[in-house]
Amino acid sequence: MHQASRPAARKEGDRPLPRRRIDAAATPNQLIEKYCSDILTSPGMSIESQCIQHGDTTVLEHSAAVTACCALIARALRVPVDERALMRGALLHDYFLYDWHVYDPSHRLHGFTHPGRACKNAIRDFGVGRREQSMIRHHMFPLTPTPPTCREGAILCVADKIVATRETVHGFALKLRARQRSREERNAR
Ligand SMILES: [Fe+2]
Ligand SMILES: [Fe+2]
Repeated sequence: MHQASRPAARKEGDRPLPRRRIDAAATPNQLIEKYCSDILTSPGMSIESQCIQHGDTTVLEHSAAVTACCALIARALRVPVDERALMRGALLHDYFLYDWHVYDPSHRLHGFTHPGRACKNAIRDFGVGRREQSMIRHHMFPLTPTPPTCREGAILCVADKIVATRETVHGFALKLRARQRSREERNAR
């Protein structure tokens, strides 16, 4: 779908930062703005805003919610983290850039293959560093066999499960409510 014309050059900011406790004065949204404004305004995010992830939640909404959840977990645990890598890796963790609900042979085994695709796209479009790459590649553990190799990846792995469960349950509740409403309308006729 989205084709970048050339690989993004590796930037100074893609080097891992020294780990420190997350900025307690900043809200998750302020941290996302601080570290990810280039990602948020990119064409890839427009694609994410048109693709559904779980229930009625788009991939962009899911990714932003997971990123905010990562900030909250890191703050609650009080562990030093690479704040920039945490925010950017989390926002790009599902950067696979297609609607996995649409049938296509290339979408088969999406659960297993999308971390690799997301990582390749993130390197191509944003030149993400090794820490972000590791986070993206291992976020589906334990569905994929290799566990996260850094603490930012472990936080992402947990945040993704929490947010995905919440979205799936919400989507299921919406479906049930819609079914109930149509049954009531049928009975009222
Ligand atoms: Fe994912
Ligand atoms: Fe996800």
